Amino acid sequence: MSATLPARVIELASPITDMENLDIRLRADASSRQVAIRAFAFSVIWLLIGSVFGLVASFKMHMPDWLVSNAALTFGRVRSAHLNAMAYGWASSAMLGVSVWIIPRLVHTELRVPKAAEAGLYFWNIGMVLGIVGILAGYSDGLEWLEMPRYWADPFFVIGGGLVGLSLLSTIAMREVEHLYVSVWYVMAAFIWFPIIFVVGNWPTYTGVESAAVNWFYAHNALGLWLTPVCLGAAYYFIPKILGRPIYSYQLSLLGFWTLGFFYSLNGMHHLIGGPLPTWMITTSIVASGLMIIPVMAVGVNQHMTLNKRFGALRYSPTLRFIVFGSVAYTLVSLQGVFMAFREVNRLTHFTHVTIAHAHLGLYSFVTMIMFGSIYYILPRLLGREWISEKLISWHFWSVAVGQIVYLTPLTISGMFQGVAMGDPTSTWEQVITAMLPGLIGRSVGGTLLTIGHGVFAYHVFLMFRGAKARQGLPPFHEVAPIITRRDKATFGRGAAT
Ligand code: HEM
Ligand code: HEM
Repeated sequence: MSATLPARVIELASPITDMENLDIRLRADASSRQVAIRAFAFSVIWLLIGSVFGLVASFKMHMPDWLVSNAALTFGRVRSAHLNAMAYGWASSAMLGVSVWIIPRLVHTELRVPKAAEAGLYFWNIGMVLGIVGILAGYSDGLEWLEMPRYWADPFFVIGGGLVGLSLLSTIAMREVEHLYVSVWYVMAAFIWFPIIFVVGNWPTYTGVESAAVNWFYAHNALGLWLTPVCLGAAYYFIPKILGRPIYSYQLSLLGFWTLGFFYSLNGMHHLIGGPLPTWMITTSIVASGLMIIPVMAVGVNQHMTLNKRFGALRYSPTLRFIVFGSVAYTLVSLQGVFMAFREVNRLTHFTHVTIAHAHLGLYSFVTMIMFGSIYYILPRLLGREWISEKLISWHFWSVAVGQIVYLTPLTISGMFQGVAMGDPTSTWEQVITAMLPGLIGRSVGGTLLTIGHGVFAYHVFLMFRGAKARQGLPPFHEVAPIITRRDKATFGRGAAT
């Protein structure tokens, strides 16, 4: 079976220290290769398109007369095009690629019906093109996170996601291992939860306040039950894999998974605090938001303890660097979110750029960084060639790391001043704008750095696809020698990733 993979894949798929299950990994990778490669290609294209929309939207906030003569380029359309290109084009396509690659490895089974998964990926991306064109042409559904036209674009997502889900779930059903590693639960659950929330969210019968409630049930769960579980699943796979040791605690991973499912699904109404909904709905959601501390700390402690005494590995593995960055951001954004869900805090932050900064701390610092790290690990193993330049990886990392600080810090601080100014009846609108301005300009500078980083990353991926000369010598992201302690041995098997 490994004959279907380029020869060098075998070397890359067999990190020097981890020869166990090599054949299983090679067969698994061969089965998901076509789909995963295409998924990553689509995702990088959407990342570039989404970055351009994001930058244009950002500059427009402090240069309001720029690009105003064409309706397609007005703020409302460009902003929605940005959100959708990034959330469903970049992040979701990358997640489809990571999922079809991870699952066969973890369940020791080749990807089932890979043709269905490939067709699903095409459907998903056709939906993306129709959706973005629809938004720019002015046919938005007018619901946040559900802007893509319901009848042109959405059926493609239902069919596309369904086909990829069918392939993944049948692979899990045919598994050759008894124990399901925690990453499998997260990915499997995401592919069961997402179709449910997507169909409910798009159901056309709701109007008025009901529509707002269903809208935020959907949008919040798109974050918590779609993007979050796949990214946590990836982090749970790569951190132990690269360190060569099992996760710290199997029990904590169970606790984190089930409490995420129970509490996150009740969080949605915290987006409508102050809105005309029954108080019990909002209060339930605030309480559930507070309870999110449990899954968040379970994941944070588990991942931190797995890394404990192995932080030095961050120097050797770009995958680990991106993924650990993303995992720390998950803890930070979630704790920030818990605060923002309290009425007293939300009164200050709602309708301000603090929310936008929080959104990017989640979707960039957590989701996007984890997807970058995953692609750095997976792509060489699928293409059979090493990343061409360590320098390009380093430029990518530092430009997006610095870009995020420049993007998020001033935006959060200005957002708070904006909230204070808006809540003060004696402030003029001009004072509110003046409070926001440093944050808006900071975001454009930070966004430019992020976009440069994306350009570097896309160029490197392009070189990889083109088959540019492979580097000789050790891969820049080889696994470090495993340290298996006596405690690790006790949990090994249940908590180890293949
Ligand atoms: C090049 C980097 C990026 C730039 C310059 C950028 C810029 C922007 C801007 C200007 C807005 C509109 C803010 C407003 O309405 O006040 C926005 C919103 C948004 N962006 Fe980005 N963004 C970037 C990366 C991303 C990424 C990678 C994702 C997702 C993976 C993302 C997801 C979102 C979402 C969900 C919103 C809506 C947030 C909300 O309403 O609270 N962005 N972005
Ligand atoms: C787990 C604990 C979390 C809690 C309690 C939480 C809470 C909140 C709250 C209260 C808001 C502001 C609503 C408003 O005033 O409009 C919000 C917005 C948002 N959060 Fe979180 N958050 C959490 C985690 C996350 C994570 C992990 C992500 C990303 C994957 C994320 C992404 C977002 C986005 C994108 C928005 C803006 C939505 C919009 O207006 O378009 N949050 N969150």
